[in-house]
Amino acid sequence: MAGQPEHKTPGGSESPEIPGDAINVGLLGLGVVGGGVAATLLEQRDAIAARVGRPVNLKKALVRDAARARDAAIPTDLITTNPEEILADGDIRLVVEVIGGVSPATQYLKDALAGGKHVVTANKEVMAKHGPELLSLARQNRVNLLFEASVGGGIPIVGCLMKELQANQFRSIRSIINGTTNYILTRMANDHTDFHQALAEAQEQGYAEADPANDIEGIDAVYKLSILAGLAFHHRVAPEDIYRQGIAHLQPQDFRYASELGYAIKSLAIATLENEDIQARVYPALIPLGDMLAKVDGVYNAVEVEGGLCGRVLFHGRGAGRGPTTSAVVGDLLEIAAKLDSEPAPAPSAAPGAASPPERPWRIKSIDDLECKYFLRLNIADRPGVLAQIARILGEQNISIASVLQKDTNPAAQTAEIVITTHPARESSVQKSLELVANLEVVQEISSLLRIEE
Ligand code: HSE
Repeated sequence: MAGQPEHKTPGGSESPEIPGDAINVGLLGLGVVGGGVAATLLEQRDAIAARVGRPVNLKKALVRDAARARDAAIPTDLITTNPEEILADGDIRLVVEVIGGVSPATQYLKDALAGGKHVVTANKEVMAKHGPELLSLARQNRVNLLFEASVGGGIPIVGCLMKELQANQFRSIRSIINGTTNYILTRMANDHTDFHQALAEAQEQGYAEADPANDIEGIDAVYKLSILAGLAFHHRVAPEDIYRQGIAHLQPQDFRYASELGYAIKSLAIATLENEDIQARVYPALIPLGDMLAKVDGVYNAVEVEGGLCGRVLFHGRGAGRGPTTSAVVGDLLEIAAKLDSEPAPAPSAAPGAASPPERPWRIKSIDDLECKYFLRLNIADRPGVLAQIARILGEQNISIASVLQKDTNPAAQTAEIVITTHPARESSVQKSLELVANLEVVQEISSLLRIEE
């Protein structure tokens, strides 16, 4: 164009000049998500520069093993195995952390923030365990720390809780925030697939954590719920405050009985604020087939929040994988880049927990105080009077039975499987009665205890 100087992009194509100095970015980690972030910054360089108002330049990417084969589009001179080439480089103003895990990521994040660098992280474990401390460090150094990708991959729930929905006092979060467990439960419910095969499939597709125990035991969902609850309630809900039960004990019969009773089984992450009490839990639960969350299948995630002003809002989308997580990371990066030199540096707003003053007076309530309906599956002796013994114990603990199903009997062994559902009861009473029921000579096994979330 006449009168306008031109410059060449790394790919050699000509593009209009974008005014201003480049914003240098350091990338910590070049795995599935890091590779996606690097590719986006390189391939969309011109579009990003036009949006931000100046070029955003990927200056260095930290890897553990420089010899590992990588995407040919990532120039080798960008790659380093020395974190100081990013953390101690005064020209790098923005650091993206996609290494995962607590160590060494937490120290890298602290060093970056203390060095006055803005930070974007996808690290749910670090944000759940050390979020308040890191956010306070960010505030002290007048830099941003954004973490949209830490929960729900491509679903923009973190930013919405901090910004668009911030006028609300939230009462509840009900969510499916682990794609791997939702994939496994969907396959078990719809296709009667074996648990281990479904897990292997989820791992092949790159959804599972490095240690799949983090997914199937609910640990990953606990980290994510800790972050969401902190943002929604403006009160720290530490991972250890969240009751957790995994999905590995579920059996095909549970899905069959649940469906017969009109329910799906989903691993839910729930946090509620009632009066001044917060209660948070991650567990597989029965939900009515008509509930929106019952229709969330495969690796999809969904988060439903209920705010005082907005009412119920449901977010649904891909919660993991290269594309959705890259979308969230680069979105945060562009948000910071676009405001980089505005004065004063925007302070991080709501924090996951205690870093967001003023701390509210809420208390964390124990799972023992939960009140809901229950689903119990037991193997018992198939003899007269057995049900009566179980019903008496439940009755003595003030637990009212809603229904009893007896389907699978084994005449040779004289055993039967029964499923009992209850009216709303207190968790501590249910646990006490199960101890007593387990001690009955006629009870072989308590196979399942699931909550019914209605
Ligand atoms: N393992 C996680 C999941 C990946 O399955 O949802 C994203 O956090």
